[in-house]
Amino acid sequence: MQVNGTAYRSIWLEDEGRSARIIDQTLLPFQFQTTRLTRAGDAVAAIADMVVRGAPLIGATAACGMLLAVNEDTADQHLRSAANALLAARPTAVNLRWALERMLPALLNVPAAERFDTARRLAQQICDEDVANNNAIGDHGLQILQQMAARFEPDRPLNVLTHCNAGWLATVDWGTALAPIFKAHNAGTAIHVWVDETRPRNQGASLTAWELNAHGVPHTVIADNAGGHLMQHGQVDLCIVGSDRTTRCGDVCNKIGTYLKALAADDNEVPFYAALPSSTIDWTLCEGVSEIPIEERAAEEVTHITGSDADNRSVRVRVTPQGSPAANPAFDVTPRRFISGIITERGVCAASEAALLALYPEQVEH
Ligand code: MRU
Repeated sequence: MQVNGTAYRSIWLEDEGRSARIIDQTLLPFQFQTTRLTRAGDAVAAIADMVVRGAPLIGATAACGMLLAVNEDTADQHLRSAANALLAARPTAVNLRWALERMLPALLNVPAAERFDTARRLAQQICDEDVANNNAIGDHGLQILQQMAARFEPDRPLNVLTHCNAGWLATVDWGTALAPIFKAHNAGTAIHVWVDETRPRNQGASLTAWELNAHGVPHTVIADNAGGHLMQHGQVDLCIVGSDRTTRCGDVCNKIGTYLKALAADDNEVPFYAALPSSTIDWTLCEGVSEIPIEERAAEEVTHITGSDADNRSVRVRVTPQGSPAANPAFDVTPRRFISGIITERGVCAASEAALLALYPEQVEH
């Protein structure tokens, strides 16, 4: 995607694979700044501190982190401990495990002298595949948006609600939930996006709004609690969200608050889609509510809020009384019964084990 006229991915290799560069997402929307990763530990910190975030990008960063680990030391023990540290950085997004399961065995299976080239090739492949998969998700989702838009007068914008940030910043490029929206806008379909602010870290208000603004897509930021009201009043035609982990039975884990939007959508007969690449599907799990580990993040993310002052300097202020404890579960699970369809790189299917396996028959043995 373009930033000030330059095409960017959210992560890329530099110095022939001796380093990787990322966009510092903690500074957006106020500053656009890139950061260099040179050690595996830099990748661990970038993931844990949410300098990079979003399940597909977390997976790509872990793959690049393994390349940086090989650059430090090719020994088996070093690679295993780098993989363990990366895996522990964030627990919910399954793309992290998926990327490490591709990288580590491939590296251990080749002689030390070949490990750097193998890691560089695989890390680049994981990044490129993510771009291709999200592009395909965009094409499949576009058909849904255009079919729905065809029911209305051409000038009447299709109103789509999204939660958190599932745009290009959450992936290597294109995004998951936002890919069909970018494509619809590019194709001239009138579209307007309701952007949930997404407390506590405000990925909607700061990142989704920044992406849509940069791309010229009409949008309105709303408080997290506004979606149900808008749905009751016919102002939302459909919802599209991303996912951090989707079970083989179709339960969708995503940013905290997604479940409440799905409940409101169900009550108001608003279609509710999840868009995700197959790297986000955990084929080992079925019942998301009981089986998916939910990350509990620092209470300070709830008790404090970050914004910018008149001079564009970042300011962090407390919004709760001193002494009030806060809880911060970062994700929730939307049961499959509330999901109208899952948009993958191979097409759109029902949120069910049978439908997902029909798209991915090679996963039947799990
Ligand atoms: O905590 P984050 O910002 O890494 O969480 C990301 C999300 O939950 C997004 O909603 C997204 O849909 C999943 S990644 C495309």
